[in-house]
Amino acid sequence: MQTYSVVPREYKTVNEAEAISRIKEHKRNLGKQMVILTHHYQRKELVPLGDYTGDSYYLSKVAANEKEAQHIIFCGVHFMAESARILCRPEQIVYLPNPLAGCPMADMAEIDDVLSSWKELKSVLSDSKVIPISYMNSAASLKAFCGDNDGVVCTSSNAHKAFEWGFKRGQKIFFFPDEHLGKNSCNRLKIPADEIIIWDPKKENGGNELEKIRNAKVILWKGYCHVHINFTPEHVKKIREQYPGALVVVHPECSEETVALADASGSTNFIVNYVTEAPSGSVIAIGTEINLISRLADMFPDKKILELTGQTCPMCVNMFRTTLGDLLYTLDNLGKVNIIEVDPEVKQGALLALERMLELN
Ligand code: 13P
Ligand code: SF4
Repeated sequence: MQTYSVVPREYKTVNEAEAISRIKEHKRNLGKQMVILTHHYQRKELVPLGDYTGDSYYLSKVAANEKEAQHIIFCGVHFMAESARILCRPEQIVYLPNPLAGCPMADMAEIDDVLSSWKELKSVLSDSKVIPISYMNSAASLKAFCGDNDGVVCTSSNAHKAFEWGFKRGQKIFFFPDEHLGKNSCNRLKIPADEIIIWDPKKENGGNELEKIRNAKVILWKGYCHVHINFTPEHVKKIREQYPGALVVVHPECSEETVALADASGSTNFIVNYVTEAPSGSVIAIGTEINLISRLADMFPDKKILELTGQTCPMCVNMFRTTLGDLLYTLDNLGKVNIIEVDPEVKQGALLALERMLELN
């Protein structure tokens, strides 16, 4: 059961300086009783208020290792707070300051569709062991399905390791819900294209001929991130024409064609490290969410940081939902609002899959 409530108007209109000062006061008063985790895509005024900032893998590790704080505030999207809830101790309380912050990609793999696809797939592949692997961007029920069926969860930082792990335990991998991260992970492991198929849950046998399913090593759920599919190979070519010598770094939720032309690809932490380590004076075009790109531009005035498309604003509106007012409201009402709970029936399987992921690195 989630304890959601409507944010009162005064928190929507509170001015930035006042909200920051009151949030800092809560932080001083609560000390080690509370930690605030902020994902790299959060608004730039929120990030400095975080005790820890990072990618999904890093923040899930922080939640799993946090022993002192009774209150864990996750400024990110629902699947991140839900994973923290599963990984932390039962007596700790996890909060998502804006409960409407979801991930449309995670919603593309609903558990009922996964279960019926699994049944269909197993009837074709009765003599092969199929390992289900879910991207962290998924509901707890899907993580539990993976945990209960000898599978694992991964993030963008360790998907290739999860695939290697899977191939030690079975002949085939069924990966949810991001076909692009799946394809990029296969490419990294040099799995031939004709051994990879896309599974469209709306079609019979995922839209595949039976022979193709039998020959496939990797079956990729048809899903995508609406932010990252905006970045195209044409953008990479254009930026290189405009800025000869520019470096291009993208998130692996981008298409394989875009990743192939980039200089590097990796999780949001990888992108931050890539920009940090680039020499002063570098021109770096980035294919990921705009809030991270503009924060990096502010952090490194000695480097020219460009958004890869050069024209659109690749924003994750769900990450953008969380405001200073939402965080302040949550802190003013600790123990009462925006608490994330996980169905006990799925918690155990999801924990198993997440713990296997933490062991991968
Ligand atoms: P990271 O794990 O790289 O932070 O990615 C999370 C995400 O949602 C990217 O769209
Ligand atoms: Fe989900 Fe894409 Fe937003 Fe990441 S950027 S949280 S994958 S919608």
